[in-house]
Amino acid sequence: MREAIGQAPAKVNLVLKVARPGPDHYHPLLTVFEAINLWEYVEARTQRAPGVSVRTLAYRPSVDGVGAPALDPVATGALAQLPPEQHLAVRAAKVLQPLVAARWGATAAGLSLTVHKTIPAAGGMAGGSADAAATLVAVNDLWDLGLGLEQLEALGRRLGADVPACLRGNWSVGDDRGDRLLTVSPAPAQPTHWWALAFFRVGLSTPAVFRQFDELGLGAEELPSASDYLDRARALTGPAGELGPLLDNELQATALSLRPELAQAGQQALSLGATAWVVSGSGPTVAALCASHEEAVRVAEAWQAEAQWATSDLLGATVVGGAVGAAQTAAELPVWTETARSGSL
Ligand code: C5P
Repeated sequence: MREAIGQAPAKVNLVLKVARPGPDHYHPLLTVFEAINLWEYVEARTQRAPGVSVRTLAYRPSVDGVGAPALDPVATGALAQLPPEQHLAVRAAKVLQPLVAARWGATAAGLSLTVHKTIPAAGGMAGGSADAAATLVAVNDLWDLGLGLEQLEALGRRLGADVPACLRGNWSVGDDRGDRLLTVSPAPAQPTHWWALAFFRVGLSTPAVFRQFDELGLGAEELPSASDYLDRARALTGPAGELGPLLDNELQATALSLRPELAQAGQQALSLGATAWVVSGSGPTVAALCASHEEAVRVAEAWQAEAQWATSDLLGATVVGGAVGAAQTAAELPVWTETARSGSL
């Protein structure tokens, strides 16, 4: 049996500018992505039966981002309810299947996928898109399709607007739907930005946030293009101390109008010494920028303590660094996936 592993990172939007919707009802965007070290892993195997099967295991990242993530049976159970044809990993595999068939013959195209998720679903961090990106990388390798990242991005764009950013990683700027990308800067050898992330029990639906955005009468007529914005985007890759005033998410006010408790989490982070905070994408994840890993752990631990209360909106917290590199193949899965693989789930 052949097998390949792909991994793809989550993102935070350092800048997210939103225009009024076009005739296709989509809102044109101008956004700067930072890929962060919270990864989805996808194992792809050949299977005798045609078609694509999927199993998803969800994990809760450790509070300091250093310890092993723990299997989350509740999130895993919820993801098992998702119809396979809606799973972005399955949809990504199906985009590659015709290419596989053309190269190796239709009989070779049966695939079984196991998705190891550390990015919370419906959190505004591109978890679904990272599943698609990791699958594209894994299946490309499994079937020796020889597609480069740029070709995978072109295919990934059809699956979701954040898929190209999850494939490209690093720092990138995107226009159109945020999916026409230019690389701003490669990731450093070690992360230079430290984020405490607060996860919430209830997700936010992207269409609902955009609908509310329209109802509030927000949105510019026109936005700068990615190439026009490249120099300003470079400033966002600088030291964390200079980044705070530059963070700008134009969906944030809308997300806060729907979920005022997000601002409380942000204010709490500031009171504990964070430099700045921002809602990630359409939310609800709150990302607090901190001067060091230690400071970010302090913020994440305070959030985590609050999440222990059953009445809290908070689900948990972790610490991540950015930027990190592109989606890639991996020789092995992280050891913490072992318990789940050998367990009864
Ligand atoms: O990109 P995604 O499929 O997650 O978007 C879900 C919905 O959010 C779209 O169908 C659209 O209603 C809204 N949306 C939008 N403008 C964008 C992205 C999403 O209006 N740039």
